[in-house]
Amino acid sequence: MTIPARLVEVLRSAKAVAVLTGAGISAESGVPTFRDAQTGLWAKYQPTELATPEAFRRDPQLVWDWYDWRRKTIAKVRPNAGHLALTRMERQLTTQGAQFTLITQNVDSLHQLAATHNVVELHGNLYRVKCFAEDRPIEFWEAGEVTPPRCPECGGPLRPAVVWFGEALPSDAFNHALQAAAQCEVFFSIGTSSIVEPAASLPRLALEYEAVVVEINPEETPLTASAAYILRGRAGEILPELVKEVWG
Ligand code: OAD
Repeated sequence: MTIPARLVEVLRSAKAVAVLTGAGISAESGVPTFRDAQTGLWAKYQPTELATPEAFRRDPQLVWDWYDWRRKTIAKVRPNAGHLALTRMERQLTTQGAQFTLITQNVDSLHQLAATHNVVELHGNLYRVKCFAEDRPIEFWEAGEVTPPRCPECGGPLRPAVVWFGEALPSDAFNHALQAAAQCEVFFSIGTSSIVEPAASLPRLALEYEAVVVEINPEETPLTASAAYILRGRAGEILPELVKEVWG
């Protein structure tokens, strides 16, 4: 793939870059995306039917077990070339005195494992848990005989500390993301279907503030029509090429 020369130039002199990632950046590590058909045990469920407070209220064990399965899947995978290229992008931009903010909708910690520093987790993290009834973060917990495990304070069920459909995003993370989107000169939207709000509003905000919006995705999304550059393909192939083209 040829990286557009104008984009290369803009990145070399950029003072602020924001990146939004979705499940597609982790696909090449072997993490199934949300729009992929689920396999095996979970094939008969839609993630959108499991990732809600109502689903947890109805069947806490089912929802807990699904997250447990996702945690186990993710524990076996490694960051891929796409995650690593973003770490290098952060290093290069920081060296040239620019701000770099990586906003992710993923809960898999792969950006942190790849050693990217400035990661904003919009949808929480699969490895953290909180009390379902009281929203209290719980630092230490163990998988025991009872699933879900119980809150040491109130005895109620614990839930993963991720954002479910119908829930608000953590306000600190979202405010940080809004600020990065409004202030950047280049905004990358990578491996996301661009349909889940409010994350999908971030590139639109960047556009309002006249950022150059770049989409990296093998498929078209609702953002495609407004992106300045569309790099069609896999993040694990395009990102290393892009970083090499810009910074050598
Ligand atoms: P989706 O599963 O909706 O979309 C994944 C996107 O990645 C699609 O647009 C694919 O075309 C693209 N893709 C697949 N392989 C790729 C690759 N190798 N390189 C680049 N792109 C690739 O995932 P998200 O957009 O992340 O929310 O979903 C957003 C949110 O909806 C998730 O965070 C989750 C979900 O339901 C909550 O759980 C709150």
